[in-house]
Amino acid sequence: MSGAKSKPTELRRRRRSRQHGCWGHLIVAPLWVAYDANLGTLLRTCDAVGACLAVPRTPHYKEALARGDTLRQRRPCIHWVAPSKEGWLGEQRARGFRLVAVELADGATPLPRLEPARTPTVLLLGHEHHGVPDEVLTDVDECVEIPMAGWGASLNVAVAGSLVVYRLAGLS
Ligand SMILES: C[S@@+](CC[C@H](N)C(=O)[O-])C[C@H]1O[C@@H](n2cnc3c(N)ncnc32)[C@H](O)[C@@H]1O
Repeated sequence: MSGAKSKPTELRRRRRSRQHGCWGHLIVAPLWVAYDANLGTLLRTCDAVGACLAVPRTPHYKEALARGDTLRQRRPCIHWVAPSKEGWLGEQRARGFRLVAVELADGATPLPRLEPARTPTVLLLGHEHHGVPDEVLTDVDECVEIPMAGWGASLNVAVAGSLVVYRLAGLS
């Protein structure tokens, strides 16, 4: 056998000896995403790229994350959005965050042209059926669209969010 190969468990231990805290520069915000499995998948992606997750502080989201969370006690930082989504978005703007929406929209940046985030960024993801609300879309700093070649009208929201946040984090 050429070269020593480490086992996955040993690799994992070396790469992540401790949980990440709130780095706060990249926040994935599935504020309208409803399904447990999608929230759980996005939580794992946040852990992988060192991003935070922001969700509304409601029983629905708390229960959905508890059910969808496969990271158990070692999950990334969660920002609870309250009392209103609009108010929270305004606060993030005031803190100097750029608002970037992931959505199929006119004038959107195609994913291959998206630059890694150089300033603090909130990444907004839309509802599985209704997308990002129009009134929010008109107000964001940038919208990112993932090109699609097939017949499907859109991607699964957790897949779309994961592709974009990997790029924003400079990891793809
Ligand atoms: C299943 S899609 C919503 C589709 C909805 N029927 C619509 O037309 O707005 C759910 C979310 O996934 C994201 N998404 C899915 N495919 C995308 C793509 N190709 N480009 C950008 N965002 C996408 C967006 O955030 C979208 O709001």
